[in-house]
Amino acid sequence: MDGNGRWANRRFLPRLAGHRQGVESLRRCARACVQRGVQVLTVFAFSSENWNRPEEEVSGLMGLLANALAREVQQLSRDGVRLHFIGDRAGLGEKVCAGLAQAELATAHNSRLILNVCFNYGGRWDIAQAAARLAQRGAQITPQSLDREMALAHVPDPDLLIRTGGEMRISNFLLWQAAYSELFFSASLWPDFDEAALDEAIAAYNGRERRFGQTSAQVQQSQSSSLPKQMTT
Ligand code: FPP
Repeated sequence: MDGNGRWANRRFLPRLAGHRQGVESLRRCARACVQRGVQVLTVFAFSSENWNRPEEEVSGLMGLLANALAREVQQLSRDGVRLHFIGDRAGLGEKVCAGLAQAELATAHNSRLILNVCFNYGGRWDIAQAAARLAQRGAQITPQSLDREMALAHVPDPDLLIRTGGEMRISNFLLWQAAYSELFFSASLWPDFDEAALDEAIAAYNGRERRFGQTSAQVQQSQSSSLPKQMTT
Protein backbone atom coordinates (compact mmCIF):
# COMPACT_ATOMS: atom_id res chain seq x y z
CA MET A 1 0.00 0.00 0.00
CA ASP A 2 2.63 2.46 -1.18
CA GLY A 3 2.30 6.19 -1.56
CA ASN A 4 0.67 7.37 1.68
CA GLY A 5 3.62 9.63 2.53
CA ARG A 6 3.66 11.29 -0.90
CA TRP A 7 -0.12 11.72 -0.85
CA ALA A 8 0.24 13.64 2.43
CA ASN A 9 3.32 15.63 1.32
CA ARG A 10 1.49 16.89 -1.75
CA ARG A 11 -1.16 18.34 0.56
CA PHE A 12 1.35 19.76 3.04
CA LEU A 13 0.05 17.32 5.65
CA PRO A 14 2.02 15.13 8.07
CA ARG A 15 2.84 11.65 6.76
CA LEU A 16 0.50 10.11 9.31
CA ALA A 17 -2.44 11.85 7.62
CA GLY A 18 -1.50 9.87 4.51
CA HIS A 19 -1.52 6.62 6.47
CA ARG A 20 -4.90 7.56 7.94
CA GLN A 21 -6.22 8.04 4.41
CA GLY A 22 -4.59 4.70 3.63
CA VAL A 23 -6.90 3.01 6.12
CA GLU A 24 -9.90 4.56 4.30
CA SER A 25 -8.54 3.26 1.03
CA LEU A 26 -8.10 -0.21 2.52
CA ARG A 27 -11.71 -0.24 3.71
CA ARG A 28 -12.90 0.78 0.21
CA CYS A 29 -10.67 -1.80 -1.48
CA ALA A 30 -11.83 -4.62 0.84
CA ARG A 31 -15.45 -3.77 0.09
CA ALA A 32 -14.76 -3.62 -3.65
CA CYS A 33 -13.12 -7.05 -3.44
CA VAL A 34 -16.19 -8.48 -1.68
CA GLN A 35 -18.43 -7.00 -4.40
CA ARG A 36 -16.26 -8.48 -7.16
CA GLY A 37 -16.10 -11.97 -5.65
CA VAL A 38 -12.39 -11.79 -4.80
CA GLN A 39 -11.92 -14.36 -2.03
CA VAL A 40 -8.55 -13.36 -0.60
CA LEU A 41 -6.91 -9.95 -0.21
CA THR A 42 -3.46 -9.68 1.38
CA VAL A 43 -2.06 -6.24 2.20
CA PHE A 44 1.36 -5.09 3.40
CA ALA A 45 0.73 -2.68 6.30
CA PHE A 46 4.05 -2.71 8.17
CA SER A 47 7.27 -4.38 7.10
CA SER A 48 10.09 -5.80 9.21
CA GLU A 49 12.13 -2.86 7.85
CA ASN A 50 9.56 -0.16 8.70
CA TRP A 51 10.95 -0.04 12.27
CA ASN A 52 13.74 2.06 10.71
CA ARG A 53 11.33 4.95 10.05
CA PRO A 54 11.27 7.97 12.37
CA GLU A 55 10.00 7.00 15.82
CA GLU A 56 7.03 9.34 15.47
CA GLU A 57 5.86 7.60 12.30
CA VAL A 58 6.33 4.10 13.80
CA SER A 59 4.34 4.91 16.92
CA GLY A 60 1.74 6.67 14.75
CA LEU A 61 1.31 3.51 12.67
CA MET A 62 0.97 1.38 15.82
CA GLY A 63 -1.70 3.78 17.10
CA LEU A 64 -3.46 3.67 13.75
CA LEU A 65 -3.58 -0.11 13.88
CA ALA A 66 -5.07 -0.07 17.39
CA ASN A 67 -7.55 2.57 16.29
CA ALA A 68 -8.52 0.71 13.11
CA LEU A 69 -9.12 -2.47 15.11
CA ALA A 70 -11.39 -0.63 17.53
CA ARG A 71 -13.31 1.19 14.77
CA GLU A 72 -13.43 -1.14 11.77
CA VAL A 73 -13.81 -4.71 12.96
CA GLN A 74 -17.58 -4.62 13.44
CA GLN A 75 -18.27 -3.20 9.98
CA LEU A 76 -15.75 -5.51 8.33
CA SER A 77 -17.48 -8.40 10.04
CA ARG A 78 -20.88 -7.22 8.75
CA ASP A 79 -19.34 -7.20 5.24
CA GLY A 80 -18.35 -10.86 5.71
CA VAL A 81 -14.61 -10.23 6.10
CA ARG A 82 -12.41 -12.63 8.04
CA LEU A 83 -9.22 -11.04 9.38
CA HIS A 84 -5.82 -12.67 9.71
CA PHE A 85 -2.71 -10.85 10.90
CA ILE A 86 0.47 -12.16 9.38
CA GLY A 87 3.93 -11.39 10.76
CA ASP A 88 6.25 -11.65 13.72
CA ARG A 89 4.16 -11.00 16.80
CA ALA A 90 7.21 -11.32 19.04
CA GLY A 91 8.18 -7.82 17.93
CA LEU A 92 4.81 -6.29 18.89
CA GLY A 93 3.55 -5.13 22.28
CA GLU A 94 1.30 -7.29 24.45
CA LYS A 95 -1.68 -4.97 24.00
CA VAL A 96 -1.33 -4.89 20.21
CA CYS A 97 -1.09 -8.71 20.11
CA ALA A 98 -4.21 -9.06 22.24
CA GLY A 99 -6.07 -6.70 19.86
CA LEU A 100 -4.99 -8.74 16.82
CA ALA A 101 -6.08 -12.03 18.42
CA GLN A 102 -9.41 -10.52 19.42
CA ALA A 103 -10.09 -9.21 15.90
CA GLU A 104 -9.25 -12.62 14.42
CA LEU A 105 -11.59 -14.34 16.84
CA ALA A 106 -14.41 -11.84 16.28
CA THR A 107 -14.32 -12.37 12.50
CA ALA A 108 -13.45 -16.09 12.44
CA HIS A 109 -16.97 -17.10 11.31
CA ASN A 110 -16.91 -14.90 8.17
CA SER A 111 -16.26 -16.36 4.75
CA ARG A 112 -16.88 -13.80 1.97
CA LEU A 113 -13.35 -12.37 1.99
CA ILE A 114 -10.20 -13.39 3.83
CA LEU A 115 -8.26 -10.20 4.57
CA ASN A 116 -4.65 -10.93 5.50
CA VAL A 117 -2.97 -7.89 7.01
CA CYS A 118 0.82 -8.30 6.98
CA PHE A 119 2.13 -6.45 10.00
CA ASN A 120 5.75 -6.69 11.16
CA TYR A 121 6.10 -9.00 8.18
CA GLY A 122 8.88 -9.71 5.72
CA GLY A 123 9.08 -12.38 3.03
CA ARG A 124 12.53 -13.42 4.23
CA TRP A 125 11.31 -13.65 7.82
CA ASP A 126 8.49 -15.93 6.68
CA ILE A 127 10.77 -18.33 4.76
CA ALA A 128 13.25 -18.41 7.67
CA GLN A 129 10.58 -19.04 10.33
CA ALA A 130 9.06 -21.84 8.25
CA ALA A 131 12.48 -23.48 7.74
CA ALA A 132 13.34 -23.07 11.44
CA ARG A 133 10.11 -24.80 12.48
CA LEU A 134 10.84 -27.74 10.18
CA ALA A 135 14.45 -27.95 11.38
CA GLN A 136 13.32 -27.93 15.00
CA ARG A 137 11.20 -31.03 14.34
CA GLY A 138 13.96 -32.64 12.31
CA ALA A 139 11.58 -32.64 9.31
CA GLN A 140 12.76 -32.62 5.70
CA ILE A 141 12.89 -29.22 4.01
CA THR A 142 11.10 -29.45 0.67
CA PRO A 143 9.00 -26.92 -1.27
CA GLN A 144 5.87 -28.76 -0.10
CA SER A 145 6.84 -28.96 3.59
CA LEU A 146 7.89 -25.29 3.57
CA ASP A 147 4.60 -24.37 1.93
CA ARG A 148 2.72 -25.90 4.85
CA GLU A 149 4.71 -23.90 7.42
CA MET A 150 4.49 -20.50 5.76
CA ALA A 151 2.45 -17.81 7.46
CA LEU A 152 0.00 -17.79 4.54
CA ALA A 153 -0.53 -21.56 4.45
CA HIS A 154 -4.27 -20.98 4.94
CA VAL A 155 -4.72 -19.40 1.49
CA PRO A 156 -3.62 -20.22 -2.07
CA ASP A 157 -0.73 -18.32 -3.66
CA PRO A 158 -1.82 -14.91 -4.95
CA ASP A 159 -2.96 -14.74 -8.58
CA LEU A 160 -2.34 -11.01 -8.83
CA LEU A 161 0.14 -8.84 -6.97
CA ILE A 162 -0.50 -5.10 -7.16
CA ARG A 163 2.07 -2.51 -6.09
CA THR A 164 0.85 1.05 -5.91
CA GLY A 165 2.77 4.34 -5.87
CA GLY A 166 4.74 3.71 -9.07
CA GLU A 167 7.50 1.66 -7.41
CA MET A 168 8.64 -1.39 -9.36
CA ARG A 169 10.03 -3.61 -6.63
CA ILE A 170 8.76 -6.50 -4.51
CA SER A 171 10.34 -5.04 -1.33
CA ASN A 172 10.34 -8.28 0.67
CA PHE A 173 6.61 -8.97 0.15
CA LEU A 174 5.38 -12.56 -0.40
CA LEU A 175 8.76 -13.67 -1.78
CA TRP A 176 7.79 -17.35 -1.63
CA GLN A 177 4.13 -17.08 -2.56
CA ALA A 178 4.49 -14.68 -5.50
CA ALA A 179 6.57 -17.12 -7.58
CA TYR A 180 3.86 -17.28 -10.27
CA SER A 181 1.76 -14.22 -9.42
CA GLU A 182 0.97 -11.76 -12.17
CA LEU A 183 2.52 -8.41 -11.27
CA PHE A 184 0.72 -5.12 -11.77
CA PHE A 185 2.36 -1.79 -11.02
CA SER A 186 -0.04 1.08 -10.50
CA ALA A 187 1.00 4.73 -10.60
CA SER A 188 -1.83 5.58 -8.18
CA LEU A 189 -0.76 6.48 -4.67
CA TRP A 190 -2.44 4.08 -2.24
CA PRO A 191 -4.95 6.63 -0.86
CA ASP A 192 -6.07 7.27 -4.46
CA PHE A 193 -6.35 3.56 -5.33
CA ASP A 194 -10.09 3.31 -5.92
CA GLU A 195 -12.52 0.88 -7.54
CA ALA A 196 -11.54 2.04 -11.04
CA ALA A 197 -7.87 1.42 -10.30
CA LEU A 198 -8.70 -2.04 -8.94
CA ASP A 199 -10.74 -2.82 -12.05
CA GLU A 200 -7.85 -1.71 -14.23
CA ALA A 201 -5.56 -4.17 -12.45
CA ILE A 202 -8.11 -6.99 -12.72
CA ALA A 203 -8.62 -6.26 -16.43
CA ALA A 204 -4.85 -6.40 -16.99
CA TYR A 205 -4.77 -9.71 -15.11
CA ASN A 206 -7.59 -11.11 -17.24
CA GLY A 207 -5.57 -10.29 -20.37
CA ARG A 208 -2.53 -12.29 -19.24
CA GLU A 209 -1.71 -15.83 -20.24
CA ARG A 210 -0.55 -17.86 -17.24
CA ARG A 211 1.73 -20.64 -18.40
CA PHE A 212 3.29 -21.99 -15.19
CA GLY A 213 6.31 -23.18 -17.18
CA GLN A 214 4.31 -24.65 -20.07
CA THR A 215 4.29 -23.37 -23.64
CA SER A 216 1.53 -21.15 -24.94
CA ALA A 217 0.34 -23.97 -27.25
CA GLN A 218 0.03 -26.38 -24.32
CA VAL A 219 -1.97 -23.87 -22.30
CA GLN A 220 -4.34 -23.19 -25.19
CA GLN A 221 -4.82 -26.91 -25.82
CA SER A 222 -5.68 -27.67 -22.19
CA GLN A 223 -8.05 -24.68 -22.14
CA SER A 224 -9.89 -25.81 -25.26
CA SER A 225 -10.19 -29.39 -23.98
CA SER A 226 -11.77 -28.15 -20.75
CA LEU A 227 -14.33 -26.00 -22.61
CA PRO A 228 -17.84 -27.50 -22.97
CA LYS A 229 -18.23 -29.35 -26.26
CA GLN A 230 -20.16 -27.44 -28.93
CA MET A 231 -23.65 -28.80 -29.44
CA THR A 232 -24.54 -30.12 -32.90
CA THR A 233 -28.08 -30.47 -34.12
C1 FPP B 1 3.93 2.72 2.52
O1 FPP B 1 3.76 4.02 2.00
C2 FPP B 1 2.90 2.47 3.52
C3 FPP B 1 3.14 2.06 4.79
C4 FPP B 1 4.49 1.78 5.31
C5 FPP B 1 2.05 1.89 5.75
C6 FPP B 1 0.79 1.33 5.18
C7 FPP B 1 -0.25 1.46 6.20
C8 FPP B 1 -1.54 1.77 5.98
C9 FPP B 1 -2.17 1.88 4.65
C10 FPP B 1 -2.42 2.05 7.10
C11 FPP B 1 -2.24 1.14 8.25
C12 FPP B 1 -2.96 -0.12 8.08
C13 FPP B 1 -3.51 -0.72 9.11
C14 FPP B 1 -4.19 -2.01 8.95
C15 FPP B 1 -3.49 -0.05 10.42
P1 FPP B 1 4.87 5.10 2.25
O2 FPP B 1 4.65 5.72 3.58
O3 FPP B 1 6.21 4.46 2.08
O4 FPP B 1 4.59 6.14 1.13
P2 FPP B 1 5.67 6.97 0.30
O5 FPP B 1 6.40 6.00 -0.56
O6 FPP B 1 4.83 7.91 -0.47
O7 FPP B 1 6.55 7.67 1.30
